[in-house]
Amino acid sequence: MKVIIGSDHAGLALKKEIVPLLEEMGIEYEDVGAHETESVDYPDFARPVSEAVAAGTYERGILICGTGIGMSISANKVKNIRCALVHDVFSAEMTRRHNDTNVLAMGERVIGPGLAKAIVTTWLETEYEGGRHQRRVEKMMELD
Ligand code: RB5
Repeated sequence: MKVIIGSDHAGLALKKEIVPLLEEMGIEYEDVGAHETESVDYPDFARPVSEAVAAGTYERGILICGTGIGMSISANKVKNIRCALVHDVFSAEMTRRHNDTNVLAMGERVIGPGLAKAIVTTWLETEYEGGRHQRRVEKMMELD
């Protein structure tokens, strides 16, 4: 699996915790920034991550800002993106099993690194169930 990850300044510290986890998991990744703590605009990072996933260049995307909200709103405006804002492990599992999400958003100002790592691990390792959920996913995507 290939993963693309991005953050704004408010998500940079948490992203720095997640990148080594991807390396430990043996996952190929690209980090589009931010790389510095100066104030930046989250859509500038949500856009390249979401467009790369929508284009199929990367299978999954991870976006981190202060709350995760701006990143998730931005990502879901890109056609073929299903982004979930997740701050608990149960939702991380369910949004893969039922919603086939391809982008994960989290907020550095909301959760700590331990929980964030558990969320990322669960979200990357959980398969989509398909079946009755496929019709619902297709109906969601008709809204694009
Ligand atoms: C930046 O201050 C903050 O607004 C941003 O990281 C994010 O939380 C927006 O949704």
